[in-house]
Amino acid sequence: MENISVLNHPIIKRDLTILRDKSTDTYFFRSALHRISSILAFEISKDFNTDEYEVETPLEKTTGYKLSDEIVIVPVLRAGLSMVNSFLEIIPEAKVGHIGIQRNEITLEPMDYYYKTPPNIHNSLTILVDPMLATGGSSSAALTYLKNRGAKNCIFACLVAAPQGVTRISKDHPDVKIYTAVIDRTLNEKGYILPGLGDAGDRTFGTL
Ligand code: PRP
Ligand code: URA
Repeated sequence: MENISVLNHPIIKRDLTILRDKSTDTYFFRSALHRISSILAFEISKDFNTDEYEVETPLEKTTGYKLSDEIVIVPVLRAGLSMVNSFLEIIPEAKVGHIGIQRNEITLEPMDYYYKTPPNIHNSLTILVDPMLATGGSSSAALTYLKNRGAKNCIFACLVAAPQGVTRISKDHPDVKIYTAVIDRTLNEKGYILPGLGDAGDRTFGTL
């Protein structure tokens, strides 16, 4: 059984259409991606636990709440960077790690080139973010790196998922819940998601 939550939201549907449209320029692409990521962060945070503590208003004492878990947001470079600020707006107390992984465009196998995460990752809730879950090779490798460095409680947030990637993550990391804005139809022979939105990194950073 796949551990996945697919968001159903009119603003997400509208903004995914902007991302899919090949005529969307970098500016509008980034702003649509930012809005979808904010809704994703908001929805994911509905599942967070809170602890109560006493807070004093200007008038009296009352019950306040704080997040129970330390949160670490980990973008997969490059494209994952585009989701970080949206997540930080909803969870400003979060720390940020980075994992550099690039798909080899011939073999589609992930290659790592950078890793840096906060030291307390072992007792944090780690949110891996990458807009695209295609074959699942990059995100599965990233989750393995995180777990090897001590992360115990991980979730994965993406925007567009292919069924093949969902199956891969569910098989390799059955403990990791996936949150996605949409599940697309399939992959093409080059590992691109169909209908998809093209290369998320290139379209975000204008490197087409
Ligand atoms: C893209 C995307 C994911 C990966 C998804 O990154 O951002 O990290 O591909 O594909 P997969 O599920 O088949 O591994 P890419 O390798 O193009 O690097 P970039 O972010 O630097 O463009
Ligand atoms: N990476 C992307 O950016 N887009 C795809 O469709 C697949 C992988």
